[in-house]
Amino acid sequence: MATTVAYDRVTVLKAFDDTKTGVKGLVDAGITKIPPFFVHPPEKPTSKPPATLHIPIIDLDGVAADAGKRAEAIRMMVGASETLGFFQVVNHGIPLTVLDEMVEGVKRFFEGDVEVKKAYYTRDTSKKVIHNCNFDLFRAPAANWRDSFLCLMAPEPPLPEEVPPACREIIFEFADYVKKLGLLLFELLSEALGLNSDYLKDIECAKGLNVVSHYYPPCPEPELTFGNGRHSDPDFLTILLQDQIGGLQILHQDQWCDVPPTHGALVINLGDILQLITNDKFKSVEHRVISKSVGPRISVACFFRTFLHTSSRLYGPIKELTSSEKPPLYKEVTVKDYVSYFNSKGLDGESALDHFKI
Ligand code: OGA
Ligand code: NI
Repeated sequence: MATTVAYDRVTVLKAFDDTKTGVKGLVDAGITKIPPFFVHPPEKPTSKPPATLHIPIIDLDGVAADAGKRAEAIRMMVGASETLGFFQVVNHGIPLTVLDEMVEGVKRFFEGDVEVKKAYYTRDTSKKVIHNCNFDLFRAPAANWRDSFLCLMAPEPPLPEEVPPACREIIFEFADYVKKLGLLLFELLSEALGLNSDYLKDIECAKGLNVVSHYYPPCPEPELTFGNGRHSDPDFLTILLQDQIGGLQILHQDQWCDVPPTHGALVINLGDILQLITNDKFKSVEHRVISKSVGPRISVACFFRTFLHTSSRLYGPIKELTSSEKPPLYKEVTVKDYVSYFNSKGLDGESALDHFKI
């Protein structure tokens, strides 16, 4: 019996995947009920009902030249990184026109010619440009109501002609700004840890960048599924651009808290590998995106991590941050092994970090 059920599920998933039109294709076809494989099991209840949380907004204006402003930004960063794992930044150097055009470019791609979109649809993770619906479709217990478009922008970006014309120009411009902002954030975070400002850059935290654009179509039964199920990010740091729809929530003190969009601000969250190397000083916090009957919602998550797993560098708790009172909590691991484990699980609601605890 169990085998028959499992077989049917794979067949259904395969048929859906073969359409290469993702969730957007279902919505365009006018469905009013979501397919069963999108239905999530009931969530583990939290002790408190959802709330809105103020996520600190850090002003990066003048931090390069003004020691006072830099110290204040770092002070706020330490506070947010030790507790929420999330903060926002303004005056981050990326013009508003670039942010808005990036969101528009993503919309043009997902709402553009279906045949063009299909040409980019793949599960081949050796590619630098990937369009698909749920990277873990065949592994996760339930699928999420969203489509995604990935572009590996560092260390070796794709050739411009490999990127869809709908967002070709803007994605290169946007990624250049994001790389610069990433370097600044890693400098400030290094100082926030009491290390020299180049520390995190020197261990190649900013070397790899994957720009993942998400398209969350409106959902006819939003209470049954998620746009993005609960997870923490398997990287060093994520810079997130979100449009005005909202839906992002973070888990703080056993309570799901909304992160309302602030136009022009970018959301920053620390990833699992940063928590590992900081020996739990900085937190990689679980978050999710709820589904809504309105939409589409567009977000662009920029993940700092090497992606094609070329490096054999080992990451473990930074020696300067450990002592006899604070012994290392994690084993050393390569990014490749960390991510292989994360991907093999899919988004199943369990932390991948625990697996690497000593
Ligand atoms: C992610 C993520 C949040 C969002 O891609 O890991 O958490 O708002 N995205 O799309
Ligand atoms: Ni995430």
